Amino acid sequence: MSLRTGTLTHPRRAQRALYATAAAIAAGTLLLAGQAGATGTGLKTLAEAKGIYFGTALTQSNLSNSALTAVASGQFDMVTPGNEMKWDTTEPSNGTYNFSPGDQIVSYAQANGMRVRGHNLVWHSQLPSWVSSLPTTQVQAAMESHITTEATHYKGKVYSWDVVNEPFNDDGTLRQDAFYAAMGNGYIADALKTAHAADPNAKLYLNDYNIEGQNAKSDAMYNLVKSLKAAGVPIDGIGLESHFVLGQVPSTMKANMQRFTALGVNVAVTELDDRIQLPASSANLAQQATDFTTVVDDCLAVSGCVGVSQWGVGDADSWIPGFFSGYGAATMYDANYQPKPAYNAVVTALGGSTSSPSASVSASASASPSASPSPSPSVTGVASSCKVADVVNAWNTGLTENITITNTGSGTVNGWTLGFTLSAGQTITSAWSATITPTSGQVTATNLSYNGTLTPGAATTIGFQANHTGDAAAPASFTLNGKTCSAG
Ligand code: G3I
Repeated sequence: MSLRTGTLTHPRRAQRALYATAAAIAAGTLLLAGQAGATGTGLKTLAEAKGIYFGTALTQSNLSNSALTAVASGQFDMVTPGNEMKWDTTEPSNGTYNFSPGDQIVSYAQANGMRVRGHNLVWHSQLPSWVSSLPTTQVQAAMESHITTEATHYKGKVYSWDVVNEPFNDDGTLRQDAFYAAMGNGYIADALKTAHAADPNAKLYLNDYNIEGQNAKSDAMYNLVKSLKAAGVPIDGIGLESHFVLGQVPSTMKANMQRFTALGVNVAVTELDDRIQLPASSANLAQQATDFTTVVDDCLAVSGCVGVSQWGVGDADSWIPGFFSGYGAATMYDANYQPKPAYNAVVTALGGSTSSPSASVSASASASPSASPSPSPSVTGVASSCKVADVVNAWNTGLTENITITNTGSGTVNGWTLGFTLSAGQTITSAWSATITPTSGQVTATNLSYNGTLTPGAATTIGFQANHTGDAAAPASFTLNGKTCSAG
């Protein structure tokens, strides 16, 4: 673990160096002790040694997935609640608050030594309709009460708040949402001041997408920050969401970060993912590794860049398949929480090694999935039996389904097909971790080469996205290599 070099004149750089020193000492102790897999290993240790954090988004339902939480707690040191601190959850009706889902994320983070990025206090989306239905004369009071109540509830428990989320249109004009309609552009300063009064120690951010490179939208954010700083409004950072399309990380990202930090604010990569048109080829995964490297390198090159967070732990948790039809594979981990080439690339960018026996990250840096189906299913050993758990996440016309297949038999499954029947009106538009044919009715999912072997007790998760016409029900039963599986 080496410290970053450079003249430590910038206060944030000095702060980062101090943090790096502490982390490097901790990491060194850990290497001497040889505790692979213990607290303090993984991306987070490498990141901390460089003076930044490495985070992930987590949702409440993620907390009961042990494969996911093993990666989350082992690799990441910052958590952003995916939905649990948003207005529709925390104040679903005027003056009625529900902090239970967010509290669960905070408890998980605290139990695992992770910090929390509060996300978010004011946003046009996931905003309950009672707010947008208020007379404009009542919106400011509602906004201030919401901010004060939520920021006070989480006072001392969050590292930062995304105080205003996604305020800009892509052309650099402010969104004409309920807050703008009521208060004009002054709502942003008002929100920041209100949050600061409630929790003076939380870092206060404005967070947006498509502001990673230099363009009309990031120019508008830059000008806003400049005017807020000039007016003495409390603002500590800008979140660059970084929802990228494969191969399209802007070449101006580093320069853009630098111009923000020159204004006296930090920057953070807050929601990193890199979507691929499915099925992902090995060339796609290699490009994704390059994209993740670029982002991490850019953050490390800018002294006021405090950290990088990925949006979701693995491909199974990503919002991408549900929002961008035909796209997915956007994170560093595949649907079975196996690291992809992007993970190894990030380890390298952070100064680690994926082959060094002393780095615990090497333990989880196993083979990446390839996309070819493997033929000739067979079972070696004795009895074959299976169980299948499936989770459907449906919206009005679509759904995603993740199916976990467990070999509960005493023999090893060498290649498999999973048979099931889709409900009437369901049509598969994309699949991951298996090939599935046909797209409706009675279908067969066939393993890919990386997940064809299931030793006794082993499990693999596959999934698909489908359109539906009203019936979003999961299949009634599944067969593995022709044998009916139990549910579970
Ligand atoms: O909770 C309801 C559930 O009751 C209902 O049955 C189900 C079906 O309609 O919907 C559930 O709500 C979903 C919610 O996620 C919780 O799962 C919404 O439909 C769905 O739209 C919502 O998506 C979230 C999205 O923000 C909404 O804009 C994603 O999970 C979340 O990852 C995503 O996160 C945003 C960041 O906050 C801001 N930046 C962009 C990023 C990606 O869109």
